[in-house]
Amino acid sequence: MMEGMSEMRRNSVLMSMLGITVAGFGLAWAWPWLAAQMASGEAPAETIALGKTLYGKYCAACHGANLEGQPDWKSPLPSGRMPAPPHDASGHTWHHPDGVLFRITKDGPAAVVGGGYRSDMPGFGSVMSDDEIRAVLAFIKSVWPEQERQYQAEMSRREQKAAQ
Ligand code: HEC
Repeated sequence: MMEGMSEMRRNSVLMSMLGITVAGFGLAWAWPWLAAQMASGEAPAETIALGKTLYGKYCAACHGANLEGQPDWKSPLPSGRMPAPPHDASGHTWHHPDGVLFRITKDGPAAVVGGGYRSDMPGFGSVMSDDEIRAVLAFIKSVWPEQERQYQAEMSRREQKAAQ
């Protein structure tokens, strides 16, 4: 446990240093955020509280007040589109790395999947700032149990590595 902690601290120092390099490529947003998350394990309480408010305003109508998703969310609707999946541990939101979750929320699933894919979910880039999108995602993450959270953090580390 102690070894793991110091490993995380080393990583976050490394990440802050790398962040300076990466800033020039316009990816600066991800680094301070990731580094802060890795250092504390979770976003600050104010960020999560803001995310919770924004979630209620923009996401709960489809993804459920308790992040439970729409009923029978694995079967297509009569329209052929998919229902909104849960964001709690019973869904698969936690399978996706940070960059993917961010793009889905900002640009919408159709833009991320491409190939003419249709989704009932719009992108929120025109109504929420990037920081607000990150806050919503921080709130969603805050409800995941430890195991799902660690899995998702590992996916995000791999995504960062692949992008280097
Ligand atoms: C109008 C309904 C609607 C609203 C509002 C909505 N979503 Fe969605 N969302 C969906 C649907 C439907 C999907 C399934 C994607 C698809 O179309 O295949 C989805 C999928 C997602 C996914 C991918 C989950 C996964 O497991 O792959 C994320 C992340 C997501 N939404 C985040 C959000 C966030 C954050 C908000 C609020 C800012 C939001 N959504 C608001 C309908 C909605």
